[in-house]
Amino acid sequence: MRHFVIVGILVVLAAVGAYAGLDASGLMPVAASAQAGSATTAGSIDWMWNLQVIAMSFLFALIVVPLVYALIVFRRKQGDTSDAEHITGNTPLEITWTLIPLVLVLAFAYLGAYSLREVRRADPQAMIVKVHAQQFAWSFEYPDYGGVISDKLYLPAGTQILLQMDSKDVIHSFWVPEFRVKQDVVPGRVTELRITPTLPGEYKVRCAELCGTSHYSMENGVVVTSEAEFIAWAQEQQNALASAQTPEGKGELLVKANGCLGCHSITATALPTAPTWFGLFGSSVTLEDGSTVTADEAFLKESIHDPLAKIVKGFAPIMPAYSNLTDEDIAAIIAYIESLK
Ligand code: CUA
Repeated sequence: MRHFVIVGILVVLAAVGAYAGLDASGLMPVAASAQAGSATTAGSIDWMWNLQVIAMSFLFALIVVPLVYALIVFRRKQGDTSDAEHITGNTPLEITWTLIPLVLVLAFAYLGAYSLREVRRADPQAMIVKVHAQQFAWSFEYPDYGGVISDKLYLPAGTQILLQMDSKDVIHSFWVPEFRVKQDVVPGRVTELRITPTLPGEYKVRCAELCGTSHYSMENGVVVTSEAEFIAWAQEQQNALASAQTPEGKGELLVKANGCLGCHSITATALPTAPTWFGLFGSSVTLEDGSTVTADEAFLKESIHDPLAKIVKGFAPIMPAYSNLTDEDIAAIIAYIESLK
């Protein structure tokens, strides 16, 4: 009886020690979603995880402590060559060690199902984000914000997000460790995942399914912000998208892409290299031979295709011809110039 009491106390101490050690060793990254929860939010993943760590610590102690205790305390005395007592079955013990694990396994099955239900609980107000996976990158589309597409997953804290995921090629898997939940992304179908970010910060979505030679590099940024910051970001993206669809918005992008603003100013003050575009459209321009011409569509188009045909007075004939631009591009650039006044 004395041995049972000592072993019992040692098992409890070892279980508590093992749990404290595992808990302090930082096995999990920071929890950043409602689904991750915490050790004290019933039904969350971290709660489920914590219960399992407790069970593991106890079972570890229950097996290892009696084993080590027996090895030390019941060691064969020197000169003792007798056999140990023969035991052939112990029905109460066998029933006990069958029932206890059975109850534990059933209890965990129930808790697991309960946790799965909580983690998947749908909020009808959830914001949809479409996730597109392909070898070897992610992209994110926001149908609620005019179809804005981003290579970083921007999310507002406190809102449930419904990810609708598809793949262009092979099977990938969406995983942000700080959110805990994980879901395969399968070509030919849309899989769903719900995440309610809670902790603003920067994370990474990793592909968790071997999908080819660059699988290891298939990761994109995740940015969780306050709701106000998210809406500001989304509207900025939406505006950029909308302006890129108008001719002058497209023209502005072309102008920047072709380096036009290295020589041409878009304010009232011209750079020394070239006439400013500010207020240029429709104005009267004096050429170096003293004649004047109206800066209309025909003049601007000619000046882009054949810049040396007409030189504006006061500037050197140094502009290169931009033969790479299509008529549509030039129309967009002219629309942009026209908008500068
Ligand atoms: Cu995509 Cu691994």
